[in-house]
Amino acid sequence: MYLRNNMRNFISLCCLLFIAGKVAAQDSLITNIQSRKSLDLNGKWQYIVDPYETGFYDYRYKELNEKNGDAYWNSGIPANKSEKKEHGYIDKYSIDVPGDWNHQKPEFTYYEGTIWYKKSFDYAKPANECKQYIYFGAVNYRADVYLNGKKLGMHKGGFTPFNFEVPAGLLKDKDNLLVVKVDNKRYADEVPTLNTDWWNYGGITRDVKLVEVPATYIRDFVIQLKKPVNGQAIGKQPEVSGWVKLNDIPASAQNITVQIPELKFSKQFAATGALTQLSFKLPKVQLWSPETPKLYKVIVSTSSDKTEDKIGFRTIEARGPQLLLNGKPVFLRGICIHGEIPQEVRRAYSQQDAEQLLNQAHELGCNMVRLAHYPHDEKITRLADSLGIMVWSEIPVYWTIDFGNAPVLEKAKAQLNEMITRDHNRASIIIWSVGNETPVSPTRTNFMHNLIIRAKQLDDTRLVSAALEVNYSSGKDVNVVDDPLGEFVDLVAFNEYLGWYGGSPDKCRTTNWSTPYNKPLFISETGAEAKTGFHADSLTRFSEEYQEWYFKEQVAMFKRMPANFVGLSPWVMADFRSPKRNNPLYQEGWNRKGLYDDKGNKKKAFYILQNYYKQKSAEALNR
Ligand code: GCU
Repeated sequence: MYLRNNMRNFISLCCLLFIAGKVAAQDSLITNIQSRKSLDLNGKWQYIVDPYETGFYDYRYKELNEKNGDAYWNSGIPANKSEKKEHGYIDKYSIDVPGDWNHQKPEFTYYEGTIWYKKSFDYAKPANECKQYIYFGAVNYRADVYLNGKKLGMHKGGFTPFNFEVPAGLLKDKDNLLVVKVDNKRYADEVPTLNTDWWNYGGITRDVKLVEVPATYIRDFVIQLKKPVNGQAIGKQPEVSGWVKLNDIPASAQNITVQIPELKFSKQFAATGALTQLSFKLPKVQLWSPETPKLYKVIVSTSSDKTEDKIGFRTIEARGPQLLLNGKPVFLRGICIHGEIPQEVRRAYSQQDAEQLLNQAHELGCNMVRLAHYPHDEKITRLADSLGIMVWSEIPVYWTIDFGNAPVLEKAKAQLNEMITRDHNRASIIIWSVGNETPVSPTRTNFMHNLIIRAKQLDDTRLVSAALEVNYSSGKDVNVVDDPLGEFVDLVAFNEYLGWYGGSPDKCRTTNWSTPYNKPLFISETGAEAKTGFHADSLTRFSEEYQEWYFKEQVAMFKRMPANFVGLSPWVMADFRSPKRNNPLYQEGWNRKGLYDDKGNKKKAFYILQNYYKQKSAEALNR
């Protein structure tokens, strides 16, 4: 028995090491951070702007040795009055964390390069033995993290969380020196690549915490309703699948307990090593839906640790041409949202920001949001859970990624892994998207297919999609969504701008859409620009009347879509910053396709879409 157990542990550890080694260079993500004891490291940090990376390379451009006192991961305080120091951190140069740097100083508006962040903090070590991690909600784009002069690790990817374990003995009671080198330069072989239609906000853009966990702790767990097979109903005792991941193989046999107090449910499982699969039936539950966004407290505990999350139980399926939520057809009344607060021209990161964005979507009459084009802050997906708003969550595999470059695929997989790992218990998320408007080629389709396979390996309870390309050359007035990637996605989604990028809005009257795939069809973008307050006739570009006409023609076309049309997420909820939008009268560095402007005012087109969504909502109620 002992031998068999150990063999099982060994195999589990190999699987875990294989998964960990494949997808993430840094320590595997600790999830459910909000339920962990942590020291909040948000607030004022001191900084050094370092466009030539003098703090990282010597004058021959070789990486400085870790012990080199001139490196900017050291404080820069001279040991005595004669010692030469050419860097340092003082309050005069302070910046807020979380928050992009671009909106905090006028000189940073367009800055792309390195800025060093420094925070000193005291730390009272707890009596019981525990591990400490430095956790970042997101840093755009590359973060090199140092604590008390020692490098903890490096992370790339501007929109997903990561954490580094603090080696035992490194933390001091007083004046711990945490330094982060943040570099937001764009590169052809990164994800995203050089070209994006959004502002390259740099910095420590989300929360930073020092997290404490027991020596053997619950690193992550997922508990989700199993997708019904062959169209079975969910049933009186819904089947749950999932797993629990411990950070280490428990020395002594451990039991894992799953409790859902409100259901008077408690069940023990023998830990089978670092990874323990779960499968059990629940008593009758209230399913999560936009109408009833029911969340249950789920507690997972072992003899040494306890963590909890609020989980909604629902299923989402694409069955042939149908999109089914809890086994019933659902129409997605969506809108695309950037993670930006336009009133303050900055990245969104707070609870208040999440409330603003989702309240605007709710006012439009949405039951769904497409969080474009990158994973947004965890607060907005948790708020969507509570409000009952379905979510499309996406990694920034955007436009002309270097698809033939194997390391780029690994970078995309790492971001996909971090996105899904952080949010795999979020009932609101129904769709993982592996990209947007990527130009069709065999290399690209292979790259994207690899991401779809990976997404399904990580989570088989949700749909996988991407904004696909449209074939406009099929002749006559039928646009065909026959992107080869459509073979591998669950939802055939596409962006169309009929009447903005092609022809005028009346083209919608004679245009039809089709897809060769027997799958649900979804319009993931459609939109036109308007400068608030610019009024003219409807033929005048950038007038509110043009945008209004665009949406009137589009809505009439939506009403003629084929039977497998299951919804849309027009582009875009609010005007947003883009370096690509330089019409001096109407844009001035803003993409004006918002239905709200950058001050939160509604444009005339807002009411056209809101009215359509009222009609669709009434239809659903009368179904
Ligand atoms: C593209 C892209 C968006 C972009 C939009 C536009 O489809 O997906 O990121 O902002 O069109 O041109 O406004």
